[in-house]
Amino acid sequence: MGSRLRLGLVGCGGFGKELAAYFMEVAGIAALCDVNQAGMEATAQALGLDVPQFTDYRAMIAAGGLDAVVITAANHVHAEITIAAARAGLHVFCEKAMARTVPECWAMVRACQENHAKLMVGHKRRLRPPWARVIQLTGDAFLGTPLSITASIYADNRPTGFFGTWWANPALSGGFFHAHGVHVIDWFRAMCGDAIKVSAMYGPQHDSRYLYPDVIHATYQFKSGALASICGGQSFPLHVFKESEVPWGECRHGGFKLMPYRDHIDLHWQRLDEKEAHRERFDDPGIDHAFRLETGDFVRWIQEERAPCLTWVEGLRCVEMMEAAYRSAAMGGQPVYFPLYPELEPEGQRIA
Ligand SMILES: NC(=O)c1ccc[n+]([C@@H]2O[C@H](COP(=O)([O-])OP(=O)(O)OC[C@H]3O[C@@H](n4cnc5c(N)ncnc54)[C@H](O)[C@@H]3O)[C@@H](O)[C@H]2O)c1
Repeated sequence: MGSRLRLGLVGCGGFGKELAAYFMEVAGIAALCDVNQAGMEATAQALGLDVPQFTDYRAMIAAGGLDAVVITAANHVHAEITIAAARAGLHVFCEKAMARTVPECWAMVRACQENHAKLMVGHKRRLRPPWARVIQLTGDAFLGTPLSITASIYADNRPTGFFGTWWANPALSGGFFHAHGVHVIDWFRAMCGDAIKVSAMYGPQHDSRYLYPDVIHATYQFKSGALASICGGQSFPLHVFKESEVPWGECRHGGFKLMPYRDHIDLHWQRLDEKEAHRERFDDPGIDHAFRLETGDFVRWIQEERAPCLTWVEGLRCVEMMEAAYRSAAMGGQPVYFPLYPELEPEGQRIA
């Protein structure tokens, strides 16, 4: 393979433009694709890219000259684009949420495995230093394993411009957590391992412009016995998205609380045998760091066979946790057990 990986970017909306800039530090963007021609042109201009543009990903793939695709399109097309790319022998970096449902995720995985294509899902939150620091504290002797975590994700999501777009439509996005909560749910799993069951409930609809129930509480139980709850709504005026994901946790030897603000993040943690809390302030919320880690790892995974920080496993298990919560909530809170689709697990063996 040549020295610079040739990537096709599918999805040139708000996030495609952002992520492409990080990929351009370590690889080349050789083609762009978006069904929205004007948006694609604006992205090309913003990134200074003079490369072929396509309004159909099939035409982009058929044109050749690519090593991999980066999928930053809306969630409902992640599966079909991944499958088409893998069948053409291309590696795939797919943004979270991996897809809307677990069967879609497995179809993506199978297509990639059958065609020896590498598949990474961009769950960057666990890589951001403040969040990674909590994973570290709970993974070693400082705080010890989590017993119970509660994350509030109340936010005012009106400024995100969700209404009338794919984000607010469960048939296109997957549902509430796919739009808001996906990061925290993956981070729960990074600390607590695989879940064994979930109970979730919807509250009364707050804003009917969301086509899914917009208030939800979900509690997961993990194999370790730990509980993790995520509770939120999308019409909470005090927090914008950036400051809305607030977790507190009680662990075997102490506890933590992470307080995200718009321009910094505070982490407080204390062992039970200590008199005072440790206070760590992150002036840099670590977004650049996380993006560079995942994009760099994706390229090195392909070019050097170096083990990456993320694969598809995080993506699939996170979709499983979200889909299971919706299923439980639709049944008024009845517990739903994992794996959600045992018949799709390879030879009955759960991959963690
Ligand atoms: N990792 C993160 O922190 C993070 C942040 C924001 C968004 N995302 C993810 O990135 C993806 C895109 O989000 P966004 O905020 O850019 O949304 P967006 O709506 O701004 O952009 C999505 C783009 O996909 C395009 N698209 C839709 N169908 C397509 C198709 N068949 N072929 C090609 N393009 C198609 C749309 O025209 C649009 O330009 C989502 O999966 C989202 O979850 C990740």
